[in-house]
Amino acid sequence: MLLRIHIAPDRARCHTPAVYDDLPAELFDFHHSLLIDEVRTTSFLRALLQQIRPGDVVVEVGAGTGVLAMFAVIAGASRVYAIEHGPMAEVAREIVRRNGAEDRVTIINDWSTETTLPELADVLVTETIGNIGFEEGILTWVLDATKRLLKPDGTIVPERISLVAAAVESPHDYSEIARLRRPVHELDFSALSDLATHSILWTELSPVSVVTEPATVTSVDLATIEHQDVAGSITVNARRDGLVHGIGCWFVAEIAPGISVSNQPPTTTPSWNQGFLPVPEPLHVTAGDPLTIEIQSGGGCSRWGWSLGLGEAAALTWSTSMTPLTSPPRGPSVAAW
Ligand SMILES: C[S@@+](CC[C@H](N)C(=O)[O-])C[C@H]1O[C@@H](n2cnc3c(N)ncnc32)[C@H](O)[C@@H]1O
Repeated sequence: MLLRIHIAPDRARCHTPAVYDDLPAELFDFHHSLLIDEVRTTSFLRALLQQIRPGDVVVEVGAGTGVLAMFAVIAGASRVYAIEHGPMAEVAREIVRRNGAEDRVTIINDWSTETTLPELADVLVTETIGNIGFEEGILTWVLDATKRLLKPDGTIVPERISLVAAAVESPHDYSEIARLRRPVHELDFSALSDLATHSILWTELSPVSVVTEPATVTSVDLATIEHQDVAGSITVNARRDGLVHGIGCWFVAEIAPGISVSNQPPTTTPSWNQGFLPVPEPLHVTAGDPLTIEIQSGGGCSRWGWSLGLGEAAALTWSTSMTPLTSPPRGPSVAAW
């Protein structure tokens, strides 16, 4: 993990523009990881080249560095309204200027839900796809933007997001929970481990940790969404004997017809991790056993609940903490506990 100390530059000496003052240091690591993820950037570039017609007006929710907004220009957009909340918007403005795209890309520093546009867009683009698809709030943003910022027959990139899950054997990811079950200086800190079993860990799952067949828990067509939350249940069979420590989750995003991106293990998209949803007690399973996994979200996908049980699912366990949507939740340095 990179640790970086942010030192506000002495502008008189190094001629750094004021936009770099007060930037949280993590923002560099976050956007750097997004830009070097070639599977992600190439998939979106191909999708935008396919979906944008010459002269289209595009709105982007969550512009970050402005990379997708500039891809939209390359694809032929006449105007791009690139909405980004927070200090990165000012950096994006400078990036767009240095690329000579400021006559076509308008950076708007605000939440998309607070933004109005002078015209409706032909295409809505958003890469607010979280590690488990929905936890960066994509349903909330798209639900709002399709009502107010996009033409009724407008195109949405991505088109569909699916949440995929499987039971996983991952002692490494469970180790903090297991360690706190044992006394520390003969004192009982198991309440902390209970807290950890109610939190999602962002991790890199190995394919060998996957005990059951993965299956799609829920799949949402972004053109027809009605709710900001998701829920679903799957029953899958154990492929081998094992000790199940939790549920492994990832997403499949259909960005445009024939173009998908996924963070399924093994990871090929370094800007996304997978989610590990721990169970209160590890569960022994035998090859062929049916397991039922239930997952549901609340609060516009900011809270998650899950259960895993042999045959019929056990009582739903609600997670109590998630990284707030206002900070980048993807990287390993911002794990949920
Ligand atoms: C995963 S980043 C993607 C950035 C850029 N589009 C890219 O592809 O590299 C998502 C960005 O969306 C911003 N964001 C998320 N929801 C937003 C919203 N509703 N309005 C404005 N910005 C938002 C975050 O601050 C973050 O910079």
